[in-house]
Amino acid sequence: MVRCPAFSCRDSLLSSPFAMLKQLEQIESDALNAIASVSDETSLEKARIEFLGKKSRLSAALAGMRDVPKEEKKAVGQKLNQVRGAITTCLDEKTAEITAVRDAAAFASIDPTLPGRTIPEGALHPLTHVLDRAVSVLRRMGFALAEGPEIETEWHCFDALNTPEDHPARNESDTFYFENGKLLRTHTSSVQIRTMEAQAPPVRIIAPGSAFRRDEIDSTHLSAFNQLEGLYVDQQVTLADLKGTLEYFFREMFGSKIELRFRPHFFPFTEPSFEVDLKFQTSRKADKWIEIAGCGMVDPNVFDSINTARGDSEFSDVTGFAFGMGLDRLAMITYGIPDLRLLIENDVRFLEQFGVG
Ligand code: PHE
Repeated sequence: MVRCPAFSCRDSLLSSPFAMLKQLEQIESDALNAIASVSDETSLEKARIEFLGKKSRLSAALAGMRDVPKEEKKAVGQKLNQVRGAITTCLDEKTAEITAVRDAAAFASIDPTLPGRTIPEGALHPLTHVLDRAVSVLRRMGFALAEGPEIETEWHCFDALNTPEDHPARNESDTFYFENGKLLRTHTSSVQIRTMEAQAPPVRIIAPGSAFRRDEIDSTHLSAFNQLEGLYVDQQVTLADLKGTLEYFFREMFGSKIELRFRPHFFPFTEPSFEVDLKFQTSRKADKWIEIAGCGMVDPNVFDSINTARGDSEFSDVTGFAFGMGLDRLAMITYGIPDLRLLIENDVRFLEQFGVG
């Protein structure tokens, strides 16, 4: 005996096209009834698989199409498509109905007319604002960013910078020392040394970073503060380059009308050395000069230390200038902040004033 495939036309139920049409109608009404009685997504999915899935009666009927006599194929095929369409539409409608019921339940506890919760907008710290501006001006002038450790050796912080053993800055009372002899760097000038150890001339770097001193804390002194160091070493760098660079820099920061003065000073690692003062216009009081940076031409003794440490003579035919400024002070001037401590207290009422950015 020839085995018949399941649900083929030779099966009793589908033995004629007429019976097949009847059977399809039956499938349709079974499906629509079953779907109508469903009220959750899981049962709906079960119904979909039962009536449209691979093992559904409809799929079997489709497989049986090949046995339908040619002249009947069209009618049976159309019926099949119509039944499948009706079941699909019914499933879609039911899905929409279930989703609507579920959404309505979810929204029942929400009042969409209430105003939304505002997300507070952040603002950059004033120091970050000032640092970003300073760095972008200096980078445009060709300075690259450099960095060095905050925990330094005495050699990088003092000896290589031509600072004698008995210099007051090296005192226990001025500097934080560790038991192993290292220290918290008292200035970012140590990055000058770190850079020249690693890189031959020309050197043109800026190094923003923290520095630490055992200062009595008051409105203009903190024991941890922020500096911005600069170093330019090449052949025939002159004092005119130093003045031009700093003047351009401060005009970019504070406007073209500012007045600057270079006042002779002493630093062990520069010769000659200067302090740079900015004339500060106050509306009520008389104008006053405030010190904003230290600078000078790199002392040849510094280059000697570097050559010795590197074991070469890369820094022999060069000159250079260096500068260091207090970033906290730049921020105080930029924003008219009267007390340095405001910069580290993290009082939101203070910080909020510096806008979004
Ligand atoms: N390191 C000096 C200070 O902290 C500033 C300075 C830097 C001076 C570079 C000259 C050259 O006061």
